[in-house]
Amino acid sequence: MQINLSKLDSTTILGGILGMETTMGMWLALVFGILPLLGWLLWWWNELWYVLPLQKQCCATGTKLPPGHMGIPLFGELLTFLWYFKVVRRPDDFINSKRRKYGDGVGMYRTHLFGSPSIIACFPAINKFVLQSDDLFMLEWPTVETMGTNSLVAVQGKSHARLRSYVMNAINRPDALRRIALLVQPGMTAAFRSWAQKGKVRGYDEAKKVTFENIGKLFASFEPGPLLDTMGQLFVGLINGVRANPIDIPGTAYHYALQCRKKLEAIFRVELEKKKNRNGIETTNDLMDGLMKIKDDEGNKLREEEVIDNIISLVAAGYESTSLASTWAIYYLAKFPDVLKKLWEENIAVSKNKKGDFITSEDVSKLKYTNKVVEETIRMANVAAFFFRTATKDVEYQGLRLRLRLQFLALISFMLSAMLVAVNRILRP
Ligand code: HEM
Repeated sequence: MQINLSKLDSTTILGGILGMETTMGMWLALVFGILPLLGWLLWWWNELWYVLPLQKQCCATGTKLPPGHMGIPLFGELLTFLWYFKVVRRPDDFINSKRRKYGDGVGMYRTHLFGSPSIIACFPAINKFVLQSDDLFMLEWPTVETMGTNSLVAVQGKSHARLRSYVMNAINRPDALRRIALLVQPGMTAAFRSWAQKGKVRGYDEAKKVTFENIGKLFASFEPGPLLDTMGQLFVGLINGVRANPIDIPGTAYHYALQCRKKLEAIFRVELEKKKNRNGIETTNDLMDGLMKIKDDEGNKLREEEVIDNIISLVAAGYESTSLASTWAIYYLAKFPDVLKKLWEENIAVSKNKKGDFITSEDVSKLKYTNKVVEETIRMANVAAFFFRTATKDVEYQGLRLRLRLQFLALISFMLSAMLVAVNRILRP
């Protein structure tokens, strides 16, 4: 019995030692073999998947792809992008890190963003080339579900041109500007007075509030009140998801944006019904009314869902850009009191002559210094941080040994003054 037991003991001990060795061996293989391999694959997967096939073609034709890295599967470089944009809040450093890593001269970098292989261009000359080559680069957003599949940013060709020309006329022609100038001033002056009374305000919140009130009135005749406040919050949710990775699961910005969009659709649908059923007496004359009236070459009006998609996307585009530009104007004017003083003097001189009346759009166009302040604010702050184009075919840029054949081209134009690099420093063949 004793012998048996000791025999059993030694077998058990031997088995235990062998088992431990096997487990340790497995751990060692995992730590030193499989994990690094998985890490390597994760890091290079997108490069192997997207770039390798193109590089073979490039070798055959003597061209080169822009330098860069395609990031990890599914996300690409989105996490790094969000780190700079959302966490450290220094968007320029995203580009600066690429400039440090791959050199200044190229001005274009390959990457993978918003679910697509992309090229980032951050060089005025390249941006100009892309913007002026409609035949080579098509306006295409990575996802259009948030803005609407029938919206101006989603449709192409004649439909796009028709909507674009309507919007330009509705907000940019002299008669439109005259009407806008008179319509926004009561709200603006009331807001400025309330800021002065409060003594201390949060510029961004106030600029957003007053902008949304103006946009609500101009675009769809909404008056300030609880409904407009709710819509303001829904639009913030929508806008936050417009450039998010299109992952539609609870908790993502994209999912939340789609939910906000559904609620906005319901609000605008009610408004549309009201507008359709209005008798002649209480008619309105806003951007949404105009959308309901425009016709194509065959005399067809926009369908209801087209009107709704377009009014939502126009409010979103107008709201985000104008409230950000106003916030930056407040910021820069606070930072440069000498500019504020000159601006003040020019405006006071004009309003003195008005004897209490509001100024007109003609007066606004005569405010030379004020207009320069607006232009400079938009240049410095760069409200539209980036825009999208898709290369429709292989493109060689000015004889450079660069061939773009990625499906998607994202352009990021940050503070252009900072990004200016002499064109002749770009790699030449
Ligand atoms: C400070 C004010 C604004 C700035 C800086 C600005 C900037 C821009 C930029 C850079 C684009 C080009 C995007 C591209 O080509 O991909 C754009 C397009 C557009 N913007 Fe604005 N914007 C401003 C105000 C507005 C307003 C008030 C509206 C209101 C309707 C608006 C509606 C649009 C629309 C609909 C497009 C798309 C045009 C198209 O697809 O052809 N924007 N904006």
